[in-house]
Formats: sequence, structure tokens, C-alpha cells
Amino acid sequence: MKHSELNSRALYFRLMTYVRPYWKVLTTSVVLLALLAITEPVLPALLKPLLDEGFTNHNEEFIQWIPIALVVLFLLRGALGFTSKYASSWVANRVVTDLRQAMFEHTLFLPTRFYDQHSSGRLASHIATNPQQVTVSATMALTVLIRDTLTILALMGWLLWLNWQLTSITLILFPLIILTVRYFNKRLRKVSRSSQHALANITHMIEEAVSNNRVVKIFTAEDFEKTRFQHANEKHRGLAMRTTVAQSAVTPLVQLLSSLSVSMIIAIALQGENHNQVTAGEFVSFLTSLLLLLPPIKRLTDVTSIIQRGLASAEIIFGLLDETREQQQRAILSTDSINGDINFTDIHYAYDDTKKVIDGFNLTIPKGKTYALIGKSGSGKTTITNLLAGLYSLEQGDIQIGDISIHNISLQSLRANIAMVSQDVRLFNDTILNNVAYADPIPDEEKAMNALKAAHALEFITPLPDGIHTQVGQNGITLSGGQRQRIAIARAFYKNASILILDEATSALDTESERYIQEALEELVHGRTSIVIAHRLSTIEHADKIVVMKDGSIIESGCHQELLDKGDFYASYYNLQFNAQEQ
Ligand SMILES: Nc1ncnc2c1ncn2[C@@H]1O[C@H](COP(=O)(O)OP(=O)(O)O)[C@@H](O)[C@H]1O
Ligand SMILES: [Mg+2]
Repeated sequence: MKHSELNSRALYFRLMTYVRPYWKVLTTSVVLLALLAITEPVLPALLKPLLDEGFTNHNEEFIQWIPIALVVLFLLRGALGFTSKYASSWVANRVVTDLRQAMFEHTLFLPTRFYDQHSSGRLASHIATNPQQVTVSATMALTVLIRDTLTILALMGWLLWLNWQLTSITLILFPLIILTVRYFNKRLRKVSRSSQHALANITHMIEEAVSNNRVVKIFTAEDFEKTRFQHANEKHRGLAMRTTVAQSAVTPLVQLLSSLSVSMIIAIALQGENHNQVTAGEFVSFLTSLLLLLPPIKRLTDVTSIIQRGLASAEIIFGLLDETREQQQRAILSTDSINGDINFTDIHYAYDDTKKVIDGFNLTIPKGKTYALIGKSGSGKTTITNLLAGLYSLEQGDIQIGDISIHNISLQSLRANIAMVSQDVRLFNDTILNNVAYADPIPDEEKAMNALKAAHALEFITPLPDGIHTQVGQNGITLSGGQRQRIAIARAFYKNASILILDEATSALDTESERYIQEALEELVHGRTSIVIAHRLSTIEHADKIVVMKDGSIIESGCHQELLDKGDFYASYYNLQFNAQEQ
């Protein structure tokens, strides 16, 4: 990914706001790192007197001090290295946690439309991996920039002080080393990017084959999946090998180039008149410093790619954090109890610009009454309930609850007053109790039992060894569709809201289970302002009013008998279903 200068700087400054609370620890880490770097030439510097005084001149007193100095040096550098690493990791992990928390919290408040457009898997992996990636890169970049730059400067200083002529000669070869490292790093990056894609592909295939395992079995598609996976797997292997080549070729090449500079030094230093000017200690110290110089140079050449990687992650992080929250679209007026007639006035709505889904919808539902919405699939029934619950924001027209426009009700208090049971029941991987009492900080067991009893769910829960403490598995996989639906209904009982939405809450059930649930639902709608959407017309016969929708507006409304007598749309639907049942 390419970043403009300004963009990168903006990302960098935003990242810094997350680091700022921990600046003291970070500064400590940086100072320790700098100390570590500038003590790098001490070892080669010790080698010079060791050889010259110790071996050449046999200076006894001096030899006694060298071992102690060595131990002290390594002790000091070890302590510096450990503490600075600890401090920088401490900061990095704090920042990872903060970023991840911010991303997750922000995601919770994003509008439904955002969820329509983004895959949950991608979102999950973004929140899980990008904060880590950005801090790993930032820590690495910081370490490399500070420690390696200072190390190089310190070593160069020592080299120049030792012998500036020799230093200048060997420096000729350094650009060559840098170019080699750059070339291979570029290749490495290209291959490793492809390799990452290949790995993502593998992960995706595993995920799909595992979660769709029933489909795979029924279609006996094992061979098909096996072959598909084999291709992806092989592709990744090939790329992994190319990565190895790029990774492994660089070290011997750099070593070859370094050996050239070393040979040059040997040739020059030991030649004729120079021979007497360079002591053994100087020579060894020089060589050691030169070799110590290579790793930091190698790392520094690659620092831009580390930064690029970090910036790419930062861009994803802040891209998500910049998505507009849904609450911002409304004025906030917190009313704890919203109760009264629900008034839909001239609602028009389109999910996207291309197709109008609701086209002039007008309806008043008196407080405490049950209204049924019916109509062909796609006629906009669910959309009406989505707008009422503020899952999508109303752009044209108004919905009022007890004379307050929903534009003036905060989403929290609006939704606190609505219970919704839909065809697509979603359960959490938790106990039955915690699913019924979802989001209640202190689940009331007795209240949950009453809710389950009202939802006719106790008959399958009581025989379970753990009762309402039974785990339901991911999305309630251990329960049947009807059982899941009854738990969802119990959840609505438990919530005890004044407005109730039942969106095809029984459509997935057989007639017998439906009869049970039907009783439960009749109990549930009692005393609440309810919207019931159903395909099976027998379930809504007793509604106070039946509203027939077509293409986003109302084409007919009245009570069951009225509409039958009228002999129009409802009557024909009804006869169609009635005759189908007869056969
Ligand atoms: N999240 C969405 N994004 C875009 N279009 C949608 C979305 N949900 C529903 N629609 C479209 O809106 C229309 C009405 O859908 P819906 O209200 O669910 O109908 P019903 O509940 O009556 O079957 C359909 O044509 C559908 O394709
Ligand atoms: Mg629907």
C-alpha cells in the first residue's frame, strides 16, 4: 500500500495519541536503548588493549582487570537490554489492548447498514490482528531507528578514531551491501505478500468446509473439497520455498561482500610499511567493529518496509474508528418509558438509491393493540419494523410513539422499550438462563423461569440434567429450531417491553409446535402494542387489525371478518392457504 506523506503523518500522529498516556515508560525505554547502543563499541574497544597489553606486552596488572571488565560489560548491557525491552513491550501491549478495545466498542455502535456491507470474519480478523501488527511494527521501527542508528554512529566513531584511512577504504563496499540487502528484501516482500494471500485462502477454505460440513457430507463433496484444498496448499508451499530462497540467499551474499572488505583490510594492513603502524590489538578491534556494523545496517535498510506494514494496519484501524456511529444521526432525548399509539406518517425508504422499498406507508397502531402485517415476501414488512426499532435510520416521513418523534428519542431508550422476536433466532454460546436474561447484569432466575414457562419452554428444559443452566452451544446448535424460538420468546417475556415485534416468529415450526407457541404469543402480546408478521394467516386471525402490504405500501386493512367479506386481496390469500391445507 502506498501512502502520501501527509496521510502517513496523520496516521502517525493519531497513533501517538494512543501512546501518549504511557510516554514516561516509553521515554525510559528509549533512553535505555540509546545507552545500549552507545556501549556497543566497548567490546571491540576492550579487545585492543587486551591484545596489545595482554598478549604483546604481557602487562600482568592489566590482564587481571580485563575478565572483570568483560563480565561487568555484559552484565550492564544485559540489564539495559532486558529493561528496555520490557518497558517497550509494556507500552506496546497497553496500546494493543487500548486500540482493540476502542475498535470493538466502536463496532458495537455502528449502524446496521455497516454490518450489511462487511463480512463478520474479516471484521473479526481486523480487530484481532491489526492492533498487534501496528504496535509490533512501531516497536520494531523505533528500536531499529534509535538503537541501530546510534550503534552505527558509535561504531563508526570508534573505527574512525582507530584508523580513519582503513575505515574510508572499507566504506567503499558498504553501498554494495546495502543494495544487495534492498534487492532481496524487495523480492521477499513480494513473495511474502502472495504467501499471505495463499494462507488466507487456505484459512477461508478450512473455515468453509468445517462450517458447511453437513452440506459437504450430503453432496459427498469430500473429494471435491480435498482437491480444491490440495491446490491451495501446494500453492502456498511453492511460495514458502521462494520466501526461503529470498531469505537465505541474502546472508551468504552479505557475508561474501563483508569478506571482501575484510580481505582488503588484511591486505592493506599487513602490507609493507603499514605493517608496523597497525598493532595486533588495533587490527582485531577494527575487524570486530566492522563485523558488528553489519547487522544494524541490514536492519536499517529494511526499516521503511516495517513502517509501511505498520501504516497499512494503522490505516485499517483508523478507517474502522472513523466509521460514523449510528447515535450521531439523532438528537438525544432520553425518555425511560415510551408508551402510547404508534404513528407511521408518510414513510418512504430505500436501502440503497436504486430501489424504493417503502413507498408512502401510513398507519396508526393504538396503544395496547395487536396489528398484523401481511404481504408477499419482499413487500417491506420487516423494513417497517427495522425502521421502528431504529435499526435503519428514517430519512423521509416520521414515526411517533405517544406523540414523540423517534428522531427525538435516544436509540437506547427506544430499543429498551421494544422486544423483538424474529424468524432468525440468534442465541449466545452460554446457558439458557443467560440467554433469556441476556444483558441483565444480575440474571433473575425466578423471572427467567416464569418467562420460560410462559413461552412453553419448560417442558423441554426441565428434563435436561442442568435445567436452565444448560449450555446451548454456538447459536444454540444443541437445540431444535422450535426450542430456540421458544427461548427467544422467553427472552421477550423477560424483557417485558411495552412494544412487541414478532417477525415470522413461528414460520419455521411444524403445526403442533406452532400451536404451543401460538398460546405463548397470545399471552405475550396481551397488554402490549404489538406488530405481528406472519405467513400462516391462521396465526393472525385474532389480531385487532390486519394490514396487507404490497410494494412498500398498504393496499388493504381491517379485521379478519371484514377483509374476508370484502373479498379482495386478503380473502384470496386466505382461500389460497385454506385450500392448500384441505388438500
Ligand atoms: N439490509 C438490506 N439491504 C438492502 N436491501 C434490503 C435489505 N433488507 C431488505 N432489503 C430489500 O428490501 C425489500 C423489502 O424487504 P423486507 O422488508 O425484508 O420484506 P419482507 O419482510 O416483507 O419480506 C426486499 O426487496 C429486499 O431485497
Ligand atoms: Mg421479512
